[in-house]
Amino acid sequence: MLVQGRGRHHPWQEAKGTAMATTTFTPHLPGGTWTLGDSTVTRFGYGAMQLAGPWVMGPPADHDNALAVLREVVGLGITHIDTSDAYGPRITNELIREALHPYPESLFIATKVGATRDAQGGWPTARRPEDLREQVHENLDSLGVGTLDLVNMRMGDAQGPQPGSIAEAFETLADLQRDGLIRHLGVSNVTAEQVAEARGIAPVVCVQNMYNLAHRHDDALVDHLATEGIAYVPFFPLGGFTPLQSDALSRVASRLKATPMSVALAWLMQRSPNILLIPGTSSTAHLRENIAGAGLSLSDQDVAELDGIGH
Ligand SMILES: NC(=O)c1ccc[n+]([C@@H]2O[C@H](COP(=O)([O-])OP(=O)(O)OC[C@H]3O[C@@H](n4cnc5c(N)ncnc54)[C@H](OP(=O)(O)O)[C@@H]3O)[C@@H](O)[C@H]2O)c1
Repeated sequence: MLVQGRGRHHPWQEAKGTAMATTTFTPHLPGGTWTLGDSTVTRFGYGAMQLAGPWVMGPPADHDNALAVLREVVGLGITHIDTSDAYGPRITNELIREALHPYPESLFIATKVGATRDAQGGWPTARRPEDLREQVHENLDSLGVGTLDLVNMRMGDAQGPQPGSIAEAFETLADLQRDGLIRHLGVSNVTAEQVAEARGIAPVVCVQNMYNLAHRHDDALVDHLATEGIAYVPFFPLGGFTPLQSDALSRVASRLKATPMSVALAWLMQRSPNILLIPGTSSTAHLRENIAGAGLSLSDQDVAELDGIGH
């Protein structure tokens, strides 16, 4: 059963242009805000994937803690949550719904399609038009909304972006957007060529690729998107399942009397104004630490040392 979502005017559906970018200061969270289509979100967001069980399968070990983390996210003023119906599967979306529905008007929930889960916890791709329609409806249902704020079309595989056309998949999502089921579109795990191809089909408000201090393959893409007013949303900002570790990171962190995770987030925040952070955590203590950490001010010397990690 679908629960009706928030009714809003949909000017972006006519707009063929790109997202308008603004960064303003908000006193509560580092980095201010960014405008995705018609919505303003905090640049410091939250990635919900780690709320599911081990390897993103099954329920969390502590259900009440997962709900508490989500309520803390919103309570601290974060307005951008990243999720997927494939997390759990369904578990993460259902936790978000249980913790936060009816959603505050300011909350922007981004989800993604393009993969499902198998019994072994694998992530088989599912990108035929019928697969994508089914995944969009599953996200609507599990989140309890009539319209999804943002759907990322996830391409590539576990090794990263792979060449190939995104056209058929993205056209399917553009059709669903025209039908009013999706407000904004993004792309994930993509090449620069796929971003350009998608933008020829419908407006793209964000690109979500793997990027962090140690994985800088997208440096040129980040800068290009900044000039186009398109958000870049790095996944695995802290290294994901393999936490970032490096001597330079530890050295800078110890000089600033901060944790390496804090410095990694501050570096992303300072890297480019179009970068939106979605660090994942299942801990309210880490959530607070990450907010404080992302607001650290890195000197030119700090940045120069850290830049050496990814090159
Ligand atoms: N588009 C895609 O293909 C794709 C792929 C992967 C992820 N994503 C999205 O990106 C988001 C972020 O990725 P992610 O959560 O996998 O990786 P991440 O943000 O790089 O790292 C999360 C890990 O870091 C730990 N952590 C967080 N804060 C910490 C702190 N202050 N101190 C020590 N450890 C800390 C977390 O453990 P604790 O729980 O103990 O804090 C968790 O294990 C996901 O939630 C998901 O929404 C998208």
